[in-house]
Amino acid sequence: MGALVGRRIVLGVTGGIAAYKAIEVCRRLVDAGAHVAPVMTGGAMRFVGRATFDALASEPTQVSLWDEEHPVPHTRLGQGADLIVVCPATARLLADYRIGRSGDLLTATLMATRAPVVVCPAMHTEMWEQPSVQENVAVLAERGVTIVGPDHGRLAGGDVGAGRLADPVDILAAIDSILGGDGSVAGGDMAGLEVLVTAGGTREPICPVRYIGNRSSGKQGHALASAAAARGAKVRCVTTRPETAPDRLGIEVIGVETAADMEAAVMGHAASADIVLMAAAVADFRPVEVAGSKLKKADGTPEIRLERTTDILAQLGENRSSGQVLVGFAAETDDLRQNAASKLASKGIDMIVANDVSAPGVGFGHDTNAVLLLDRDGGSAEVPLTGKHQVADAVLDAAVDRLHNAPEATAEAGTGEDVTR
Ligand code: CTP
Repeated sequence: MGALVGRRIVLGVTGGIAAYKAIEVCRRLVDAGAHVAPVMTGGAMRFVGRATFDALASEPTQVSLWDEEHPVPHTRLGQGADLIVVCPATARLLADYRIGRSGDLLTATLMATRAPVVVCPAMHTEMWEQPSVQENVAVLAERGVTIVGPDHGRLAGGDVGAGRLADPVDILAAIDSILGGDGSVAGGDMAGLEVLVTAGGTREPICPVRYIGNRSSGKQGHALASAAAARGAKVRCVTTRPETAPDRLGIEVIGVETAADMEAAVMGHAASADIVLMAAAVADFRPVEVAGSKLKKADGTPEIRLERTTDILAQLGENRSSGQVLVGFAAETDDLRQNAASKLASKGIDMIVANDVSAPGVGFGHDTNAVLLLDRDGGSAEVPLTGKHQVADAVLDAAVDRLHNAPEATAEAGTGEDVTR
């Protein structure tokens, strides 16, 4: 059960008599080292009290879309989850989930996630065998939802038949095998992929006290790292802001300070990456000399001579690994499309994510962003103002699509010729 350590699991509990067994599942998940966030429906609370889950789980039980401090609890839970398990799942939950009806916090959370989902149905045999229920389960399974159980056995009221909630041990085993033992999420659409992402603004020292920096907060890069890990990728996040980097399994955080540090870290890990996302704001210039001790006013106005740093992304473009997708970022204040297109071409990369940092709510320091995505084959898409996590998912969608479907970038990079793989 090592795969569960540190994993964020939303435990959805719906209104069936088997809800009491979800308490056992909750306890076992916590014992295995997972961070468990329970979400109960109104029906579930008729069978068991939320106080029981509050006492056992890692955070307070949520029961409504409206009673949490966070303004959008379903996205907080859905986006932050490594896995969602619904235990037990009623016939109603199966129907709602199948058709996308998000009438309560649990179904809304299921709609707001890209994490793998495990559903454990439990109901009376007659209900379980209804063609409508069977069809809903089959459709969910086809969409990639893992269905665990139900087992055959004793049911409420003394009946015996199919419909009994799967044994908590089997539910745990299913979750464990989906989350994999190597820090990756086996069920996500990026399972098996390696992603290298950079974040934050580099700092170029002038003296031991002062540096030349920029306004990048690292939030967009960190959102990319977090979203890629939630989708099953193994992520390396090279960041100048390690203190605010996502702390979750599947992400190795590498803290750096200068452009040279970032270059060394990126070059050391780029070869094996399937997708490289250069979201960091890397200094283009650094002081030629770094004073050994603090510059003092009394010594007069210093003249700081600057020299160019390496363009890490352009270097990656020149020495790319076969089949790798290289994504650059461009923070602009004017001529967004034109500047982005010229960077895309000059750096020999596959995609560029450009934003107009002079627009309200966009870029540096904000939790929101609005971007223009351009690819080297002339494709373009706009992501209007939204959360950085949504932008991250849109960027990853495009990068994954390119990885699987795009013309071979490696051999013909920069020539504009397409070679179909
Ligand atoms: N980049 C890099 N190494 C550098 C500078 C930038 O890898 N030394 C990467 C950034 O991470 C980003 C992209 O290149 O993905 C930004 O392109 P760039 O043309 O360098 O942008 P600016 O530095 O903003 O350039 P300019 O001042 O010309 O707009």
